[in-house]
Amino acid sequence: MIKPHGSDTLDSRFVADDTRRAALLKEAGGLPALTVCSAAAANAVMLGSGYFNPLTGYMNLAEALAVAEGMRMPSGLFWPVPILNVVRPEQITEEIRAAKRIALRDPNVEGNPILAVMDVAAIEVMSDAQMTTLVEQIFRTQDREHPGVAAFTSVGNTVLSGSIQVLNLSYFANDFPETFRTAGQIRDEIARLGWQKVVAFQTRNPMHRAHEELCKMAKEAVAADGVLIHMLLGKLKKGDIPADVRDASIRKMVELYFPPNTVMITGYGFDMLYAGPREAALHAVFRQNCGCTHLIVGRDHAGVGKYYGPFDAQAIFDDIPAGSQEIEIFRADHTAYSKKLNKVVMMRDHPDHQPADYVFLSGTKVREMLTAGEALPEEFARPEVAAILAAHYQREAAAG
Ligand code: ADX
Repeated sequence: MIKPHGSDTLDSRFVADDTRRAALLKEAGGLPALTVCSAAAANAVMLGSGYFNPLTGYMNLAEALAVAEGMRMPSGLFWPVPILNVVRPEQITEEIRAAKRIALRDPNVEGNPILAVMDVAAIEVMSDAQMTTLVEQIFRTQDREHPGVAAFTSVGNTVLSGSIQVLNLSYFANDFPETFRTAGQIRDEIARLGWQKVVAFQTRNPMHRAHEELCKMAKEAVAADGVLIHMLLGKLKKGDIPADVRDASIRKMVELYFPPNTVMITGYGFDMLYAGPREAALHAVFRQNCGCTHLIVGRDHAGVGKYYGPFDAQAIFDDIPAGSQEIEIFRADHTAYSKKLNKVVMMRDHPDHQPADYVFLSGTKVREMLTAGEALPEEFARPEVAAILAAHYQREAAAG
């Protein structure tokens, strides 16, 4: 199987031994505690579920700047997005400042239970110029309207770095028991199935015909044994479809329209960054960690609004020096249903087509139609998938 990123074996920061975990939890109860921001909690979950192998904790400022500017840790390890625990200065109490070890509390679970224990190596204040550099490099914009920039710039300016030991995986395992999987669990499942080549499909949306066919085309093109549909289960911007609805619609699509035993449906616990190219590079890192040999990167991967060009998230892989990662990128062109050919195609393969030859529907139009109880064209969406989405939108409309 493909090696994990930057190491021979996959390591997660989760304390798997029950006795040790119970002892740590007991110790954590007596440590100074800090309720972290959602992004830092998601980073802990990713560290605890092996996706961020071989990192052992949160980066310090020098590491974050090196990663932001050159996509490398000072150690030389390829890493495209800073993994940070940023807090507001007033959260750093005298107790925390004096402590070597602290408990991190989960902002996303009622009662803020302890998520991890952290060995604090440094507490550093980010200057405005450093914040600007990080934001510019990660998001390619300073615009606070960008949901990722808004989240990144609203949590404070104080960087806590150091390794962590993760004691639970937040709400993901409870809320998505059938879908949430750690990188190690996915590797084990791939091994059990005997798959050699596995193509990963990143998604934060429901899957329509174009996405279904994109997975099938990629599988065929790379001669993969299977497809890993790997959905984001963490926080999204307002208006995006909740994970349980996406999950149900994707499961229905796979059940009805894919050959049996060719798809694994799973999810990971991370908040969407909407960082386009940089997030695509991070996606590649953690899909390698879960044992995938290929990652599909299509049109406007991990993008939002008009902040990125449609294929910027593919172009970033041209700038990543060979040997930085082993996973390969399947670069997909815009995929849509051709009325001329009566099937979903990649536009680059059909230069003779005009825009009017394709079935296009904007996200807004899809939402309007489903809320109004109108059927989506079958060329665009599978009816069984559309029905699940329509029920969601109608519930939302009824709730006001
Ligand atoms: S993402 O933010 O998770 O990337 P989404 O779930 O919409 O959003 O997309 C999942 C993957 O499908 C990404 O690789 C994206 O580039 C690709 N994709 C989505 N729609 C199309 C399309 N019509 N043509 C080509 N690629 C697409």
